[in-house]
Amino acid sequence: MLMATEDNAIVSDGFEANKQCFDCHGQRFYSFENQNTGLIERKAMNPNYVYSQDAYYRGVHKNFACTDCHSPEYETWPHQAELRLEPMYTCLDCHGGDPTYEHLHFELLEEEFLKSVHAERIGDAFTCWKCHDPHSYKRMTTGEFRISEIVSYHNSTCMNCHSNNDHYQLFSDDIKPGLEKIHHFLPNFKLHFSAVRCIECHTSSADTLWVNHNILPKENAVKNCIECHSTSTILMASLYKYQNIEGRKERGFLNAVILNEAYVIGANRNEYLNLISIILFGLTLAGIIIHTIFRLMK
Ligand code: HEC
Ligand code: HEC
Ligand code: HEC
Ligand code: HEC
Ligand code: HEC
Ligand code: HEC
Ligand code: HEC
Repeated sequence: MLMATEDNAIVSDGFEANKQCFDCHGQRFYSFENQNTGLIERKAMNPNYVYSQDAYYRGVHKNFACTDCHSPEYETWPHQAELRLEPMYTCLDCHGGDPTYEHLHFELLEEEFLKSVHAERIGDAFTCWKCHDPHSYKRMTTGEFRISEIVSYHNSTCMNCHSNNDHYQLFSDDIKPGLEKIHHFLPNFKLHFSAVRCIECHTSSADTLWVNHNILPKENAVKNCIECHSTSTILMASLYKYQNIEGRKERGFLNAVILNEAYVIGANRNEYLNLISIILFGLTLAGIIIHTIFRLMK
């Protein structure tokens, strides 16, 4: 596997400074010399404190040294216990009111987030960082990703808690039934979860933002199949804004245009249906042309 750090070692301003931290926080085991005994000891790292260098250097904050956000005192080890109480920056501390980031709508997203179930029920402890992992968050809106990659990235953000009780229980004593049980009303659960984002059903659909941050209570979730399985679907207004781009890449331009117009989700899977719809389209077109010729000849 190619590591971002190997094929492009100078991508990050923080690369050299971060080596020391990744020596321990980049793997499951770390070693240190015990000053008292002179022995080299090997210990297991808390799995929540292990970060992939590859993901870090592909993330939006890849140019940061760890100590830009964390105290420089972390360069000494054992770390001092009171460092744990260090207050962390919020997104808005750095991005708020900055015209450079206007296109990302930080203020608006915060407003939406504050109305969400997470903020309402859990309060201040549920920060933006809970979904935007400071050590790996990357943007998917840059046009270089396929819909399947976007969906899988988004959904893994949610499943990081909703399919992982160790993380979920940092905020709640409940143990929930698995997502598959909860969503039993959906036939072919696996296919759905790899084809649509959680937020398609769990936020209000009439929204112009790429990622609506107002996650609603479960009572308000979309259950109606028609919302997606029809020609004008909620997906067109959100996820499939990018369908055109992807379609062009994968099927060639003409195909994407023809299919997009009459794209019925699910039906598109069937090669014969595709063929039939293209033939029908062709026949209709031919019909119109012949009709027009006859009218002109009259
Ligand atoms: C010798 C290994 C080692 C090195 C080097 C190291 N850490 Fe740690 N770090 C740990 C371990 C182990 C923990 C888990 C808590 C503990 O046992 O002290 C930890 C915990 C942390 C925590 C969580 C808060 C806490 O104190 O529990 C932060 C943040 C952190 N390290 C940041 C850094 C940064 C930034 C660097 C580089 C400047 C760094 N660490 C270098 C081993 C290391
Ligand atoms: C953009 C700012 C930022 C950078 C850069 C950053 N961190 Fe963090 N880090 C945070 C924040 C914020 C948290 C708390 C996350 C949370 O609350 O979920 C955190 C949490 C941690 C923790 C776990 C502490 C805990 O209590 O959960 C460790 C360990 C850690 N960082 C190590 C590192 C290391 C090592 C690097 C460099 C490779 C690094 N961080 C770079 C912002 C940053
Ligand atoms: C300590 C300051 C700081 C904090 C805290 C911070 N950022 Fe950033 N962020 C930056 C800087 C500086 C850049 C530009 C990095 C570069 O160009 O290498 C950046 C880049 C980004 C980008 C990429 C912008 C683009 O045009 O592609 C996004 C998205 C982003 N941050 C989101 C967030 C989110 C979400 C949070 C909170 C979860 C956050 N940031 C917290 C300083 C910060
Ligand atoms: C429940 C999870 C969750 C929370 C909480 C959350 N976000 Fe996000 N956010 C996401 C996801 C998922 C994305 C989509 C990543 C992508 O597609 O680029 C995203 C995208 C963004 C973007 C980039 C938008 C774009 O057009 O690329 C910004 C900026 C952002 N969030 C800011 C915030 C801020 C600020 C907060 C806290 C006030 C916050 N987020 C809290 C999940 C969350
Ligand atoms: C850091 C962990 C975490 C992440 C990440 C997270 N959630 Fe949650 N979520 C929770 C917890 C904990 C609750 C329960 C809150 C309560 O009821 O006290 C919850 C509640 C919910 C609910 C409300 C359920 C109800 O009872 O009405 C929905 C819907 C939801 N989350 C969807 C999402 C979606 C979609 C994402 C991704 C964009 C996401 N969550 C990301 C932890 C998380
Ligand atoms: C096709 C629409 C749809 C999709 C996609 C979807 N959900 Fe749901 N979800 C629902 C509906 C509808 C409910 C309410 C079910 C009920 O109450 O019987 C629900 C319930 C939930 C609940 C509440 C569970 C409880 O009972 O406390 C959570 C949490 C949740 N979904 C998370 C997710 C996550 C995470 C994803 C993405 C991995 C996701 N959902 C994808 C429609 C959807
Ligand atoms: C949020 C949008 C959304 C909702 C709501 C939704 N679906 Fe789907 N469904 C999809 C997508 C996207 C696919 C995958 C299509 C593909 O891969 O070609 C799909 C696939 C399917 C398939 C498989 C089709 C095949 O070709 O294998 C069936 C069956 C299906 N959905 C039935 C339902 C039913 C029944 C409901 C209501 C309970 C429902 N869906 C609700 C978006 C949705």
